[in-house]
Amino acid sequence: MARPDRISVAESNRRAWNQAAPVHRETQFARLVDGFSTPGFSCLAPTETGLLHEIGIEGRAVAQLCCNNGRELLSVKNLGAGECVGFDLSDEFIGQARELATIADLDVSFVREDVYSIPPTYDGRFDLAYVTIGALCWLPDLDEFLRVVARLLKDDGSLFLYDMHPILGMFECADRGIPLPRYSYFKAEPFVELGGIDYYGGTTYESAPSYCFQHPLGAVFSACLSSGFVVTHFKEYDKDISSLFEHFEPLDTTFPLSYTLVARKV
Ligand SMILES: C[S@@+](CC[C@H](N)C(=O)[O-])C[C@H]1O[C@@H](n2cnc3c(N)ncnc32)[C@H](O)[C@@H]1O
Repeated sequence: MARPDRISVAESNRRAWNQAAPVHRETQFARLVDGFSTPGFSCLAPTETGLLHEIGIEGRAVAQLCCNNGRELLSVKNLGAGECVGFDLSDEFIGQARELATIADLDVSFVREDVYSIPPTYDGRFDLAYVTIGALCWLPDLDEFLRVVARLLKDDGSLFLYDMHPILGMFECADRGIPLPRYSYFKAEPFVELGGIDYYGGTTYESAPSYCFQHPLGAVFSACLSSGFVVTHFKEYDKDISSLFEHFEPLDTTFPLSYTLVARKV
């Protein structure tokens, strides 16, 4: 199968994420409205919060790439960040993010944009590029993505990555019991899904094709290094953050389920 080009991937994924938005809203939004009605609310895990404080978040300008409904960026703002701008491909999720910003009464901007096409007006504006759970896998070209990250950052700015471990790309989340690898860790062709993207409720529905990509950790490191970053922190965890593989956590023969990586622009 020919690898679809980046523009077709983005357009199909935009439609698929727009279709997922009301489905996620059904199960997630009321809880978020409730949370963000309280000043200072954060939905972030302690691991992430601790690391953000360690590298310094107070007053820092933050861009979140693939921000979805904005729950994480609004939480980052509540940790004391300065200017915050979230970018996402999906019209519907950007709409939800703006609603939550209004409810939280927070000055955070949300921009509907393909991360590969973020306009130069944002260049050199941010101390931190914040990329979290389930973002990288939607991006067909990691090297180009890291070049975008580099241009958005100020000199000395950092990339902050908190993501599911790519080893999970080898498994089907519906499989239970002893994990059985089904796909190559180095799978080059995208995963194509026609049954929707409901990783919260597990429902299926007819959807525009969504394309996601397997990026081995080596590819993540290589993209950072070739785009002029120095990796200053990297840690793996046996905690699932994807909502899909929690059943792997209690296994004795465990493997990494998530990771954090910080890389400084040099
Ligand atoms: C799994 S969600 C991120 C979830 C978020 N980290 C959270 O935990 O709330 C992935 C997001 O990436 C966005 N996305 C996918 N491809 C994109 C692209 N090329 N540019 C911008 N956003 C993109 C989707 O619209 C979706 O909102």
